[in-house]
Amino acid sequence: MPAQREPELDDAQARHCARMREYLAAQIAAAHGWLGFERFMDAALYAPGLGYYSAGAHKLGAGGDFTTAPEISPLFGACVARQCAEVLGALETGSILEIGAGSGRLAVDVLSRLEALGQLPARYSILEISADLRERQRARIGQHLPHLLERVQWLDRPPAQPFAGMVLANEVLDALPITRFRWHRDRLEEIGVVMRDGRFAWEPRPAGAATTAACRRLAQAGGDWDEGYVSEYCPRLAAWTRSVTASLRAGAALWFDYGLPRSQYYLPERHEGTLLCHFRHRAHSDPFLYPGLQDITAWVDYTALAEASRDAGFSLAGFTTQSFFLAGLGVDHEMRALAGDDANEFARVADQARQLMMPGEMGERFKAMAWLRGLNLRLSGFALQDLRHTL
Ligand SMILES: C[S@@+](CC[C@H](N)C(=O)[O-])C[C@H]1O[C@@H](n2cnc3c(N)ncnc32)[C@H](O)[C@@H]1O
Repeated sequence: MPAQREPELDDAQARHCARMREYLAAQIAAAHGWLGFERFMDAALYAPGLGYYSAGAHKLGAGGDFTTAPEISPLFGACVARQCAEVLGALETGSILEIGAGSGRLAVDVLSRLEALGQLPARYSILEISADLRERQRARIGQHLPHLLERVQWLDRPPAQPFAGMVLANEVLDALPITRFRWHRDRLEEIGVVMRDGRFAWEPRPAGAATTAACRRLAQAGGDWDEGYVSEYCPRLAAWTRSVTASLRAGAALWFDYGLPRSQYYLPERHEGTLLCHFRHRAHSDPFLYPGLQDITAWVDYTALAEASRDAGFSLAGFTTQSFFLAGLGVDHEMRALAGDDANEFARVADQARQLMMPGEMGERFKAMAWLRGLNLRLSGFALQDLRHTL
């Protein structure tokens, strides 16, 4: 196979990358030469003015770095809207909080479908970290749904006022910084980052008590790890999800992301973990390559997310694959609604549905999880397949 060529950076990108490298090198120096990967990833994604999500460089969709379900098809948002309609219908009044709204497509698709169903939320709030993406979201909603713009608000932090309704997050949990670890000579090591010959390099060191205890629980679920087994976990998952859902007095939180139950995530054969970077639709596993310009992600441990639901005072209302979630909400009906009588359009929409629902790909790798609080409701998105017993 011919060697894959590195994408070329333009001058502005090269300068941005150089500044991010300097910033990360200073962080490593300030940490006495060894920086835990959680802090490295946090800085690479979120350092003010420099991080991938806090600076203006990243892009979604065909011309960007990666594609998400709402970018593939409005079918995803239409089905999410149907799930929202069930919840909003069961509450007297309800609002939606979307976390990490990307290009704003999901917001547009959910709002337009809810409008057609006569079930608009009182408010649609967006908690978005990227100033650049906020502007893109505002522009998209203004272009497609100008009459609904005044219902939409952007937040810097989770809402302080309690509200009833929904919390939605698609592909946000995978960006939460993770701790990397290695099983070496019957001991756990935490893998951090050092500078070696002017470059970033991995450097394991004996794990502290908290990391060791956390990893031992993962090993119990996954099985006997061989020498050199590398993986990761997300120490801030519970605290972060609790904080963004804290003001949801009654209603549902819906999480979508690629991930697995813990017993599958930490199987011995998955010995390199799930760390993945995205730059211009090239997926690779080197977070040192384009710091500040590339997304860095890891799969979600859905058992940890289920545990977090209980910690946050929710009940776990459902866990299923993206494919079954969409089927449970009548994706076939939504396909016909989108395409009307146009056979070519139907073929196009059917191809999008195939991408969203493909077994072994998006349809299965992506999961949906629902948390409920102050509401007892059967959610159609989780009615066809219940995978909670796998958690
Ligand atoms: C991979 S994109 C997904 C975008 C969108 N949900 C979609 O499905 O197309 C991640 C989104 O989450 C935002 N984001 C990342 N970390 C965040 C955080 N800690 N708080 C709020 N938004 C965050 C990003 O700026 C971006 O909008």
